[in-house]
Amino acid sequence: MSDDPIFSTGRVAVITGAASGIGLAAAKHCAAAGMTVVMADISDALDAAAAEVAAIGGVAEHHALDVSDFAAVQALAQDVFARHGEVALLMNNAGTSFRSQPFDGLDAWRQTLEVNLWGIVHGVQAFTQPMLDQGRPGRIVNTGSKQGITNPPGDLAYNVSKSAVKTLTEGLQHALRNIEGGQVTAHLLIPGFTYTGLIRRFAAEKPAGAWTPEQVVEAMVEALAAGDFFILCPDNETTPEMDAKRVRWGAEDLAGNRPPLSRWHPDFAEAFADWMRG
Ligand SMILES: NC(=O)c1ccc[n+]([C@@H]2O[C@H](COP(=O)([O-])OP(=O)(O)OC[C@H]3O[C@@H](n4cnc5c(N)ncnc54)[C@H](O)[C@@H]3O)[C@@H](O)[C@H]2O)c1
Repeated sequence: MSDDPIFSTGRVAVITGAASGIGLAAAKHCAAAGMTVVMADISDALDAAAAEVAAIGGVAEHHALDVSDFAAVQALAQDVFARHGEVALLMNNAGTSFRSQPFDGLDAWRQTLEVNLWGIVHGVQAFTQPMLDQGRPGRIVNTGSKQGITNPPGDLAYNVSKSAVKTLTEGLQHALRNIEGGQVTAHLLIPGFTYTGLIRRFAAEKPAGAWTPEQVVEAMVEALAAGDFFILCPDNETTPEMDAKRVRWGAEDLAGNRPPLSRWHPDFAEAFADWMRG
């Protein structure tokens, strides 16, 4: 039997966006560890995904819900705690993207923020207090994105939602670590380029540069065991060193009074290339 405090037989995982991609891979990992896996998703693919997970082991439950509906997320939390009495792992992972523009596409902005930001706020609001009250260790993993840190142009509402998730999760972990005797910690999962449903919309086959969702979950499990807050995943084209340089370059825009997003500014193209080589 595993001595991992989270991924162990009989403990409970609640995963949103569990019908596909990273959420589904996480559900499979939890099932293989003998956990009860509560899979929540808005997609019709949820039933088939839950059947796949149930075939692995543990117990797989599926709940059709929209994470942007707080009443539905609250009802899920009440149901899970009433029946199971605890949650070891909450993965606020459901996400969506539309190629939104800075001053166009108000509907895309609202939909993106409703799911990617409010969906996570809802999960945190509904689950955190009962997880603290259960008196057993718990982990809250919120799925962010490098796009919320380095802000590449192309889908601004997505970047805004994911940078807000970073700020939210940092603040959540600060609050949790100040609770005396608290056994719940929060973590920011930052996948790299990962071949999932979000990417399948643009690429019929896995691009060589992408990781699989299983690789992301493996990195997440290792990072949680190490107690890391930031779970910054590389991929087959971006090394941890490249990520670190890109993050530092972005921070220097503000600290060094450069134009925003200077990484994509023609006047800084050479300096950025030198920085990445250096
Ligand atoms: N794939 C990548 O390269 C990548 C990179 C960085 C971050 N992410 C993030 O990873 C997370 C998981 O996405 P993925 O890449 O596995 O994509 P995916 O499309 O395979 O999975 C996302 C799941 O979220 C579900 N979902 C969407 N809106 C929902 C809603 N309102 N309520 C409930 N479920 C909803 C979808 O039905 C889908 O099953 C997302 O938050 C995404 O932003 C992905």
